[in-house]
Amino acid sequence: MKAKPFQTQLLQWYDTHGRDLPWRSKGVRSDPYHVWLSEVMLQQTTVPTVKSYFLSFLRLWPTIHDLANTSLDEVLHAWQGLGYYARARNLHKCAKDLSKNFPKTKEELLALPGIGPYTASAIAAIAFDEPETVVDGNIERIMTRLFKIETPLPAAKKEIHHVAQILTPQERAGDYAQALMDLGSSICTPRAPKCDLCPVSSFCEAKSEDYPRRLPKTLKPTRYALFYWVENNKGEILLEKRPPSGLLGGMMGFPSSPWLEELSIPENLQILPGYVKHTFTHFHLICRVVKKKEPAQGLWVSPKNLSQHALPTLMKKIAAHAQKLAQS
Ligand code: ADE
Repeated sequence: MKAKPFQTQLLQWYDTHGRDLPWRSKGVRSDPYHVWLSEVMLQQTTVPTVKSYFLSFLRLWPTIHDLANTSLDEVLHAWQGLGYYARARNLHKCAKDLSKNFPKTKEELLALPGIGPYTASAIAAIAFDEPETVVDGNIERIMTRLFKIETPLPAAKKEIHHVAQILTPQERAGDYAQALMDLGSSICTPRAPKCDLCPVSSFCEAKSEDYPRRLPKTLKPTRYALFYWVENNKGEILLEKRPPSGLLGGMMGFPSSPWLEELSIPENLQILPGYVKHTFTHFHLICRVVKKKEPAQGLWVSPKNLSQHALPTLMKKIAAHAQKLAQS
């Protein structure tokens, strides 16, 4: 395939059909702070969800210096609901570094907390037009279709990166990467791609949803946990900070048993009917909730004030479950 006409067709399409997103500035380079913040948010979260969080972060912290000078708790609070909270902790650390010096190259960006190869390439390309190759899930899909790559994912990653690199332009690398992302989200979709609307279909060998090839899925395991909804005499609920490492590390939550492959429930406990199910990247968690009355040590919060604490989604679901059953 000839790289140059491919890039030209794609960039022309992007100039008229590219999405208007709050971190993009059409025709001029985007602010590096905006690019970095959006890329970290977009690491594990979809564009529609990120839009409102991105805008509220900019309202709270208009510049990287504002973000660097705020407390981690404020950042975690504003991050509430985005998930993968290690990102918020790294974001805050990274803001401190970036507020002193914002590097422009992939290699220097890679040295920063929370910035892996994908994010470093995306920031270098989008914020600084460095000719870096950006390969996210959308772009992987497009490359496997363009070149009919038969190797299944994830084994095909190297091959995909190789062809993606050959196609990357020396100029407008940021627009080019974002054009591919937009093509993947609106036209070269996982199911029923709209090949008749595609600006680069004449370059595409597959024109089919049958790529990328995949190995059969392995099922996600399920783990089980008991969560304790502990009340004191004033009707307040006990919250605790989870250990700093591991899932939801350092976040506030309700006390729980270890999360195990099997759960045996002691008979004397007051278990609420029903359960809460929450899915993490690598497993499902099924939670039963136990009500207890006791005067333990810890942070006691009135149920109506729970929303003032940075609770991860799992803990919000536990609270909703316990409170729904309290009312019925
Ligand atoms: N996903 C990750 N980065 C993105 C960007 N800059 N535009 C659209 N989707 C994205």
